[in-house]
Amino acid sequence: MRLAFIFGVTAFVVAVVGATHASPVLAQTGKTVWDGVFSEEQAARGRELYNATCAPCHKEDLSGQPGPNLAAEAFYLRFDQDHLGRIYNSILTRMPANEQRGTLRPEQAADLVAYLLAFNKFPSGAAALPAEMPALTAIRVTRGKDAPTEAPNLSLVHIVGCLTKSGTAFVIANATAPMVTKNPEPSKDAELTAAQGRALGSETFGLVLLQVQPTAVAPHAGSKVEAKGLLIRGPQNRINLTSIQPVAATCN
Ligand code: HEC
Repeated sequence: MRLAFIFGVTAFVVAVVGATHASPVLAQTGKTVWDGVFSEEQAARGRELYNATCAPCHKEDLSGQPGPNLAAEAFYLRFDQDHLGRIYNSILTRMPANEQRGTLRPEQAADLVAYLLAFNKFPSGAAALPAEMPALTAIRVTRGKDAPTEAPNLSLVHIVGCLTKSGTAFVIANATAPMVTKNPEPSKDAELTAAQGRALGSETFGLVLLQVQPTAVAPHAGSKVEAKGLLIRGPQNRINLTSIQPVAATCN
């Protein structure tokens, strides 16, 4: 299985580099759910809609059945280190998981995310959560106000940056801060749109090509790409690539 292979490689990478490099102190980027990212009014709208539409499968206390538990620890186990775009996108495209699927409007999906956050005791703020992917992907779920917002070393991440040839190797330059993902495959649909819209960053990552052939990487040189893989922090930051796709023909 693909994931088993990835974790096999992780073990290998840990053996090679893990022992010698402590995690560097990482810069804080973007917002988290602790920054007051939704309004109380919005969460109240979300609550009404939730109780009418979602509670049949997730229960009024979010404990779930037949849908999964979305409260407290279960919320973290499912979403810690993810961005709100993932929750929003799941609700918008897959919920409610019955014949009404696909009928929610974007604003309603954002209201529902706001309610899930309010129920889970994240603080409200002055402005409503926008119903718009690039903004939502910049807000991360973390376990506490001071918990690191950067993806941990050796986690499966996605980045967006410029694929550049460096001698015989490839690097991804002007890359965004890595974000944790659960899916090693190229993004699709709304997440792909979000990747296309993400502003470039300032990081550089070398590529470790064990699972993806160099011949699959080379044609995208010069493009803005989305790359996914295992994050390897060290003197040279690298990504052990699981997938790469162009998101724009040029990179600037
Ligand atoms: C008919 C039952 C049903 C209804 C109604 C329903 N859900 Fe779900 N929900 C599920 C099931 C089953 C899953 C797990 C499978 C999946 O993620 O598609 C799920 C998963 C989820 C997840 C986790 C998604 C993820 O990416 O991990 C969220 C969040 C969610 N539902 C929110 C909602 C909201 C908000 C509503 C109301 C608009 C709703 N659900 C209505 C059955 C339901």
